[in-house]
Amino acid sequence: MPTTDIAPRDRLIVALDLPDIAQAEALIARLGDSVSFYKIGYQLAFAGGLALVPTLAGSGKKVFIDLKLHDIGNTVSRGVESIARLGATFLTVHAYPQTMKAAVEGRAGSSLQILAVTVLTSYDEADLVTAGYRLGVSDLVQMRAKQAEGLGVDGLVCSAEEVGTLRGIVAPKLCLVTPGIRPAGSASGDQKRIMTPARAIAAGSDYLVVGRPVLAADDPKLAAEAIHAEIAQALNR
Ligand code: C5P
Repeated sequence: MPTTDIAPRDRLIVALDLPDIAQAEALIARLGDSVSFYKIGYQLAFAGGLALVPTLAGSGKKVFIDLKLHDIGNTVSRGVESIARLGATFLTVHAYPQTMKAAVEGRAGSSLQILAVTVLTSYDEADLVTAGYRLGVSDLVQMRAKQAEGLGVDGLVCSAEEVGTLRGIVAPKLCLVTPGIRPAGSASGDQKRIMTPARAIAAGSDYLVVGRPVLAADDPKLAAEAIHAEIAQALNR
């Protein structure tokens, strides 16, 4: 089961994978009280979307900045210091020791939490060999998860399929954030390793990242509420 001290309705993170601020604001208005947590990734961030962070935080919403940072330590640390001033809750970095250490240093004194991306879910064993790694996906994910924990990182981004293994090797305070969530009947799109909201929560996910099943729904608010219902059902089991 997931870490318990998170409000059930804060466990859904809607990915604002949209081309501009106007479309993001329209979706946020439409979703209203149904969504309290938003993720801003490359598409919106590089279209000026980081300007939304203080606005959202000021209106009581939580924000996950998904920029998957990776650079020399000093650059990461200074960059994270700037991001920490925006008022976001989560920021992603790649799970390289120097990068994670620098990110944890950069967010010191702020409420920003650092999430490490262990191995991108689009990578399989062959991709790792091509990229020059000697460990396979599972071993590399577990090694990086332990390194992240040792360096004071707050959580991990992983596939819901990895949650069971990771829950067994890292402390409960490390939150596990899982994309690739698909309510029964929704299109998988380019996601290969998918899980329903209820199964992902039952497996031990703390937060579910959902994009297209909400964004592309005829009624996004209804789609978000259906996911909340599944989360609540799984938590009460
Ligand atoms: O539309 P969909 O629900 O597939 O969106 C999932 C979101 O989670 C996207 O913003 C995607 O970039 C992000 N993500 C992912 N897999 C990861 C890390 C992040 O799908 N490993």
